[in-house]
Amino acid sequence: MASDRDDLERIRQAVNLVELFEGVTTVRKVRGSFKALCPFHSEKTPSLSIDPARGLYHCFGCGVGGDIFTFVQETQGLSFVEAMEMLADRAGIVVRRDPRAAQRRERRSRLVEAVAEAGRYYQDRLKSAPDAGHARSYVRGRNYGVEVVDQFELGYAPDQAEALVSHLRGKGHKDSDILTAGLARRVGRGRLIDQMRGRLIFPIHNVRGEMVGFGARLLRGEGPKYLNTPETPLYKKSELLYGLDKARSAISREELGVVVEGYTDVIAFHLADLPLAVATCGTALGEAHFDLLRRFSSRIVLAFDADAAGAGAAVRGDDLRITSDLGLDLRVAMMPEGRDPADLVFEDKGDLLREAVDGSAPITEFRLNRLLGQYNLGEREARTRAMREAAELIARHPDEAARYQHALYVAGRTHMSIDLVQAEIRRHAATGRGGRSQGRPRTDGRPAASRAMDRSERDLLRHLMAGTAERDRISPDLFEHDQAAVLARWLLDEGKHLEEGVPVPLDGLKDQAMSAMARRLAVMNTPLLPFEDVMSHLEGRAVGHRKDELLVILEGIDQKKDPEAYSQALAELIALQERGF
Ligand code: UTP
Ligand code: MN
Repeated sequence: MASDRDDLERIRQAVNLVELFEGVTTVRKVRGSFKALCPFHSEKTPSLSIDPARGLYHCFGCGVGGDIFTFVQETQGLSFVEAMEMLADRAGIVVRRDPRAAQRRERRSRLVEAVAEAGRYYQDRLKSAPDAGHARSYVRGRNYGVEVVDQFELGYAPDQAEALVSHLRGKGHKDSDILTAGLARRVGRGRLIDQMRGRLIFPIHNVRGEMVGFGARLLRGEGPKYLNTPETPLYKKSELLYGLDKARSAISREELGVVVEGYTDVIAFHLADLPLAVATCGTALGEAHFDLLRRFSSRIVLAFDADAAGAGAAVRGDDLRITSDLGLDLRVAMMPEGRDPADLVFEDKGDLLREAVDGSAPITEFRLNRLLGQYNLGEREARTRAMREAAELIARHPDEAARYQHALYVAGRTHMSIDLVQAEIRRHAATGRGGRSQGRPRTDGRPAASRAMDRSERDLLRHLMAGTAERDRISPDLFEHDQAAVLARWLLDEGKHLEEGVPVPLDGLKDQAMSAMARRLAVMNTPLLPFEDVMSHLEGRAVGHRKDELLVILEGIDQKKDPEAYSQALAELIALQERGF
């Protein structure tokens, strides 16, 4: 690893940041320092400053900042490793590499290549296969022209058991990769069959634009309307947003992201010239999605079907706390009754999309209005019940001033005194039903420890108990669930002197709750994820959180006053990125 760090230093020495900027924007020398028009947001007077000596830049307009590596990543949409390779090339430097990271990258790129090949195959089928006539009619029926098919790489999965599998084998892809990439599944003991059959294919990309999986719509016959790629090392539905790769630059430019229900709605927004929409892929909107979105904009508008218990249900009370912890301005756009964005665009009413988005209301306001709207506020009893329910909702809001504002509003609508409403809010907050964040303030976006343990944490504990974990790679810090971390620490300690594969005896576990948890895990018969998968998930997550923390730190440091601290945080950030996560 040390050698890698040296390589980075050498590249840094060899590349002039000012020259990089000159390639994409206007740079001026002002009183010995360099100022540039920021390429990351639109501006007329330069507010980005470059420090060529330290190789760092920062924009006082939009807050972006970084070094030569982040510059290339951001302007060219490359991963850290790709950016490093490009810069090394440019500087004529040959880089050495950590073999484990290299191996990981290699496996990953085989999977990416298999998925991309599948995407090309599906698209080719949609465009020209004789057995895809009905798929083409469906596409035409939705008013998708060839530009849409090309831009969104729509495809058709033949209604055969192994059309894709044979195609991929023919291209030299190994069965193990085809399986791991979620493109096929194994039936019985041997045969591989295609995961998607007889469906219209919507390729799903990660934020960097790599195709990682598919959403697939039923065209005829019986079955679920949409199927998605199962979880794979590339496709983690809780961390993917359909369309984000295409929308990200518009989202950060407009400082506005729109979340819609599905693939067809994302496409609809593009067709209406609003390339701001993203959608979850067959799962509810969760914390990781918000975490991803806030990198591009803090203003997020949910644009779901009007009556769809939608906007209400899409964001649970808990997420309300999360979004506000993440500093997000979460809003709801009312779609005209019974219409989703795709319907509107189909009816040539794309203008209504912009109107709905512009007329969005903050989520708590939206929910309060909905709730109050369900009561006949002309009746005294109804006003009382409405106020109680509203107070419960307001109690979940983590910001005191905002709670007060909402309380005032509810007091007015229900003819109550503000004191009464506030007392009711406090009552809900105190009974904890409000789910407000309590205890230590959290600025790093990490989830509260009280939430349910996630599957990887659980399975890592199971590996630790069974002795099938590589103990020296595990730190209790990988666990975000407090009790899981405590149990992990104990298991690591107990297991220190045991051979690999020998289960850790649980008799020594004195704490009642801990012991109950361990026993529950021990008898669990849900399939155990492979150790490597669990580790890569948890390590990736830990690195992600640390990266977020570092970004917050970097934002908070005045680079001029404290260049040491700044460089140090930046160096750590780079070292993390370089580990290939
Ligand atoms: P729709 O039900 O409107 O799908 O859901 P559609 O393909 O537009 O079908 P019709 O023609 O209106 O009947 C809109 C989006 O919600 C997601 C999909 O992404 C779809 O594009 N969705 C819907 C699912 O993920 N799963 C489902 O079962 C249904
Ligand atoms: Mn629809």
